[in-house]
Amino acid sequence: MAAGSSFSLLRRSWRTRLYSLLIDTERRNWWNTVFDGSMVLLLLLSTGAVIMESVPEIEQEYGLLIEWVDAITVIAISVEYGLRLWCCTDDPYYASLGRLRGRLAYALTPLSMLDLVALLPYYLALISAVDLRFLMVLRLLRILKLARYSPALSTVLAAVAAERKALTAALFLLLVSLVLVSGVMYHIEGDVQPDAFGTIPRAMWWAIVTLTTVGYGDVTPVTAAGRIFAALTALLGIMICAVPAGLMASSFIAELRKRDFVVSCRLVARVPFFRSLEAALIAEIAAALQPLVLPPNYVIVHKGDRGDRVYFIVEGEARVELPNSQVTLRAGEFFGETALLYDRPRQATVVTASECRLLHLDREPFLELLRAQPAIRDAVERVAEQRIGRPPDHADKQI
Ligand code: CMP
Repeated sequence: MAAGSSFSLLRRSWRTRLYSLLIDTERRNWWNTVFDGSMVLLLLLSTGAVIMESVPEIEQEYGLLIEWVDAITVIAISVEYGLRLWCCTDDPYYASLGRLRGRLAYALTPLSMLDLVALLPYYLALISAVDLRFLMVLRLLRILKLARYSPALSTVLAAVAAERKALTAALFLLLVSLVLVSGVMYHIEGDVQPDAFGTIPRAMWWAIVTLTTVGYGDVTPVTAAGRIFAALTALLGIMICAVPAGLMASSFIAELRKRDFVVSCRLVARVPFFRSLEAALIAEIAAALQPLVLPPNYVIVHKGDRGDRVYFIVEGEARVELPNSQVTLRAGEFFGETALLYDRPRQATVVTASECRLLHLDREPFLELLRAQPAIRDAVERVAEQRIGRPPDHADKQI
């Protein structure tokens, strides 16, 4: 029994360590950087190998090496995928769904699906006869997995997701125009140039090349009416293509801002905690505060961990998970203060309830601020005591 429980403890500590290495990207350390860097290198190497494999001379000379790179990459991605599924239940959100459902929910997240897409072609080829060229194309999908390690790629994906409705509408507009424009051009030029415009599907090639403003020039109208209509189609194409391009640009910038919002003095002054401070002090604190944007259900603070910073909610909600209940904290409130005030482990787990913009302040500047501002210190102590009760006398008070 004792051996069983110590085994499960050992397993849990390994799971927690793996969780912080593979999933918990917020608490980044040297190991995260080394791991992510190695994975990016391996993915780039293996994508490069697939590209080179399509050159017959290189394939003949280095075929074996390329196979090795491929096999090593697949083993690494498979092990990483398995470990991610195993340790994801260290996150209270997935843990709360139960062992199996939690892992299934994690497997269905967009990034986990990309992991699977990176893996499947290899195993598909093992169990079924797939055309080698097609398989090569599928293996190139591996490059999508870089989204896990590259904030830029995931920002693009987030921008597309945020504008998906408008982009779908723009695509719909393009399809409608394509059909109508091809129909009209078939009518105008069909008899004169049957090869290029003799049927509506044939006219569609010209229509898509013109609407997207690519204009290869391999098929061009020769009648006056055809040319006038072609000019109008080109103008329509510019208008239609400008819509998604503009949408993507603004959405991309909005996503970037969200991720890296600037800690301005005005933003800091909006947080009630800092409102009473003088402008000079606010400017000083703004320099020490770090911005953080987190998705929903993200564990910000783990119960039992050592506390190293205090958090202020600028936007969104966070959930404090107490033994028998939950408390929701909203914009303007703060958390993570008790571990710093009394040098105790974190008293509760705190999870984002929606997308959250936070500011965080490291232990030392926070304690420094409390020492310098007795009124703020009293207010923080009052909140902390309300939350966790009066700390025991032997608690190591930091200020
Ligand atoms: P800390 O113990 O550092 O980390 C967990 C945080 O959750 C804790 O600080 C408080 O900020 C917050 N917390 C703990 N208990 C409560 C509560 N009852 N109500 C609101 N917040 C709480």
